[in-house]
Amino acid sequence: MASAASGGGGSLKRMGPLRVQYYIVMGAVAAAVVLATLRYMPGPAVPATTARTSGGGVVRSAPAAAAVPVPVPAVEVETGEDEQAQRRRRRRKKKGDGVVLFNFGDSNSDTGGVAAVMGIRIAPPEGRAYFHHPTGRLSDGRVILDFICESLGMPHLSPFMKPLGSNFSNGVNFAIAGSTAMPGVTTFSLDVQVDQFVFFKERCLDSIERGESAPIVEKAFPDAIYTMDIGHNDINGVLHLPYHTMLENLPPVIAEIKKAIERLHENGARKFWIHGTGALGCMPQKLSMPRDDDSDLDEHGCIASINNVCKKFNSLLSEALDELRLTLKSSTIVFVDMFAIKYDLVANHTKYGIEKPLMTCCGHGGPPYNYDPKESCMTSDKYLCKLGEKFISWDGVHFTDAANGIVASKVLSGEYNIPRVKLASLVPVPKSDD
Ligand SMILES: *[C@@H]1O[C@H](CO)[C@@H](O)[C@H](O)[C@H]1NC(C)=O
Ligand SMILES: *[C@@H]1O[C@H](CO)[C@@H](O)[C@H](O)[C@H]1NC(C)=O
Repeated sequence: MASAASGGGGSLKRMGPLRVQYYIVMGAVAAAVVLATLRYMPGPAVPATTARTSGGGVVRSAPAAAAVPVPVPAVEVETGEDEQAQRRRRRRKKKGDGVVLFNFGDSNSDTGGVAAVMGIRIAPPEGRAYFHHPTGRLSDGRVILDFICESLGMPHLSPFMKPLGSNFSNGVNFAIAGSTAMPGVTTFSLDVQVDQFVFFKERCLDSIERGESAPIVEKAFPDAIYTMDIGHNDINGVLHLPYHTMLENLPPVIAEIKKAIERLHENGARKFWIHGTGALGCMPQKLSMPRDDDSDLDEHGCIASINNVCKKFNSLLSEALDELRLTLKSSTIVFVDMFAIKYDLVANHTKYGIEKPLMTCCGHGGPPYNYDPKESCMTSDKYLCKLGEKFISWDGVHFTDAANGIVASKVLSGEYNIPRVKLASLVPVPKSDD
């Protein structure tokens, strides 16, 4: 596991992989210059109405023809029928065909973005449980977004800035580990991620207008699902403050998320799936910080004050989404109570086959939390849990593949959502042409 010491992993090792956010802030100095130039390049936002109306007319491949079982006269039309059958076969290949998703967020939904853009070498045992090799995800396997994609029958989303092997035909993942919703704090804060989306959409529409191919067709943008999972790093950034000051710092973060949703709406987005923040007070990283006594621990061993900040964040976010439902016309805006889902996982852990809900799988130092801020998951496997042992926390901050799978099933159930809809209900109904 010492392989992490080479290349980009060297500095990562010294800083700890859980401090990727600080790593990014350092990179921001150089990147800000580039970004300052790029972000303000001209690129007018496409009014939603234009996207919608012109989108309606883009039915070039005549799918309607395939819907009618025309009795085909013999010889002459044979080639035509073949083509039609082929086209139909191609179209009904998979249920995820044509489903498009754009994601914005931090490490909880980063599918390899930070590794690619910062040149960070994420080494084994990262990825060991599912992909069997590191993928740039901060987990032993999949993140919640991966399970969401799988449930919709589509491939995992490629990171926007990953140059090798990316395929954007089912959408784009703009999430970058360490990112905040607050602008200027991190390089790839939410506003920048939305800028990147607008850039991507503009380039697709430009290509289509020139008659070239684009990964996403115009009418897919209003039909797409826009998911967001951000705020953890904003909360992390205020946890050193006195309790009431922490709470005072939340509304500006919520305002940024609201602004991002409004900008996406201006640019044609109509279906929003917004995750609240998890129970940060149950993370081994927080629990292993020195404390005077255990008076702030709740009945399940989590830090109550931190969890209260998270709950407050979520209720403010949920209220902001209530407001947006009134102002953003013809939109679906879903709030997912990640706190309830992730806290239940800790509180009712035995039900989920988890023995040590507050301990890190890939950590250092042993019980109770097996977490050492000075050592990264990749530096040694002395305290690494056994493959197949069910842990919630992979590295003290991020969840394991197993835990993300449980969380995702609850996210998808609709049970923890406002309104209580299932993600699958946001997917456009496939044309019944076969
Ligand atoms: C990209 O993904 C789509 C849908 O999964 C697939 O049809 C297409 O062949 C892929 N493109 C490339 C270049 O791999
Ligand atoms: C634990 O599970 C029970 C039964 O499903 C449920 O009523 C309770 O709310 C759960 N606890 C938490 C903290 O979610």
